[in-house]
Amino acid sequence: MKIITVNEINEAANCLKNGGLVAFPTETVYGLGANALNPIAVAKIFEAKQRPTFDPLIVHISNLEQLSELFEQPIEPLVFELARHFMPGPLTIVHRKSKIVPDLVTSGMENVAVRMPSHPIANKLIKLAGVPIAAPSANKFGQLSPTSYKHVAKQKMKIDYLLAGDDIDSLVGIESTVVLVENNLCTILRPGIITLEDIQKAMPDARVEIAEHNHKINSPGLLNSHYSPLKPLYFLDKTAETFPPNSGIILHSKNDKTFPAQKIIYTSETGDLIEIAASLFTSLHQMEDDIAVNQIYIEKVKEKGIGISIMDRLKKACFQYQ
Ligand code: TXA
Ligand code: MG
Repeated sequence: MKIITVNEINEAANCLKNGGLVAFPTETVYGLGANALNPIAVAKIFEAKQRPTFDPLIVHISNLEQLSELFEQPIEPLVFELARHFMPGPLTIVHRKSKIVPDLVTSGMENVAVRMPSHPIANKLIKLAGVPIAAPSANKFGQLSPTSYKHVAKQKMKIDYLLAGDDIDSLVGIESTVVLVENNLCTILRPGIITLEDIQKAMPDARVEIAEHNHKINSPGLLNSHYSPLKPLYFLDKTAETFPPNSGIILHSKNDKTFPAQKIIYTSETGDLIEIAASLFTSLHQMEDDIAVNQIYIEKVKEKGIGISIMDRLKKACFQYQ
């Protein structure tokens, strides 16, 4: 794996054209990209991540015309309405796929997920590559999503290039909102920084809902356990007085009571949900990397608006320790 900067972006784009793998920054989390139209290149993503092939990939584009190539005609009008309001940005649209999309990208399903990142380096890379780029988050399957190139580097995956961005990478900090558009209805399959309320506000006439449990069948990647650090992670019991030695505690506001622990990280000073989302994975990586921390306790947030998306990630990250 060669770590490069934006100055050498042409090398990375050529690598993608030639069927190689490139990790790159986006405004949500780092992605691990390959030419989405080349099944052999896409297969390398699953191998590098040790990801089961039942978990479909998001295809990344650099201009909205590409929606019409990847989605089957006729495209539902809601797709264009969502695109007008939220693309480029942290929104992924799932819609019936066109014939050019290989089955491996969609895990054999009829639908494909498409996103147009707003991060300038991601946009430039996809444009230079000249093809749509299939990219999951650039972490081994089940582990924490990367919000810095260092988080990608420590995974030691078999990839060709790691395109390092800068301090303003992954400002959003959690993965995109995934919305299925079908029969003139938007169904949120994975909550993100763009919430149900945001979509309703932007498109008051649209039918929008959050997926019921049975939608997991339509989106098999949505497992109960996911996004986990390599150390035990528990929800913080705020009434607890003592913790085992070498505990790390993640809190979301400095106004709250404090706890006795070796290490405390605050994701926000004031409990601001956008700030919490932005530092969520970064703080978990910090705890994972700290050799003085053996187990991590993280505070819950209220499940409302962006709080739903934060708790979605945390419940999966804690799942095996509940
Ligand atoms: O922000 C993001 O979305 C990041 C960056 C890199 O763009 N990508 C990302 O990819 O989070 P990944 O692979 O970690 O998560 C993609 C999820 C899948 O697990 C699945 O739940 C859903 O998106 N998905 C992908 N294709 C789908 C499809 N055809 N139908 C339903 N859900 C799909
Ligand atoms: Mg992921």
